[in-house]
Amino acid sequence: MIRICPSILSADFANLAEAIGVVTPATDWLHVDVMDGHFVPNISIGAPVVKSIRAHTKLFLDCHLMITDPAKYLPDFAKAGANGCSVHIELGESYSRDRIAQCRDLGLKPGVVANPDTGFRAYADLLGEVDLVLLMTVFPGFGGQKFIGDVMDKVTQTRVELDRIGSDAALQVDGGIDLITARIAARAGARAFVAGNAIFGQADPLSAARGLRNAVEDELTANRTEL
Ligand code: DX5
Ligand code: ZN
Repeated sequence: MIRICPSILSADFANLAEAIGVVTPATDWLHVDVMDGHFVPNISIGAPVVKSIRAHTKLFLDCHLMITDPAKYLPDFAKAGANGCSVHIELGESYSRDRIAQCRDLGLKPGVVANPDTGFRAYADLLGEVDLVLLMTVFPGFGGQKFIGDVMDKVTQTRVELDRIGSDAALQVDGGIDLITARIAARAGARAFVAGNAIFGQADPLSAARGLRNAVEDELTANRTEL
């Protein structure tokens, strides 16, 4: 299953409901980038905005928490109507394990996120416990950065391990995803694709989202034919 996840970080924050409405027909998950100016050097949005968005859409709200203290804020996101919350493994393995349990208790689908320079071993033992594994293909904090191709070995390693343990967790990539890099990530094993600039930065965001899905489908079909 392929999931296209437009990141509202690149949308017009003053017209979010409209921007979301435009891409909805081509959206599986709406990616919400939450930054606290501490875990990453930028401040974006939080639970109050999730609550406002929730009133306008039925889409799955996939919240990527780039914050230092998710333990404190996860209940707010659950209450605001988030569907999934992903927590960075850089906060610590046992801390992340506890947050996964906290998400389940709150009725949220838990995800674990790893930065480009964080190794597979850091999160490997948590793979059986999450619904989403997000492998960053840029250093988090800003949209519009360049895709880091070196992460693909880790994507493949994670794909192999998820298949080995029989997990159907979504393997998501985030950062610099466009028509070219989405294909590269799909070939490596990713199945969920976050895109900000490549969707909301385009003149026609709906066609851009559809184009992304077509590119990934095309890549996976081509690979299947080769086998
Ligand atoms: C980066 C965020 C991304 C960002 C991606 O910190 O996690 O979700 O919105 O933006 P693009 O697709 O423009 O690289
Ligand atoms: Zn993100």
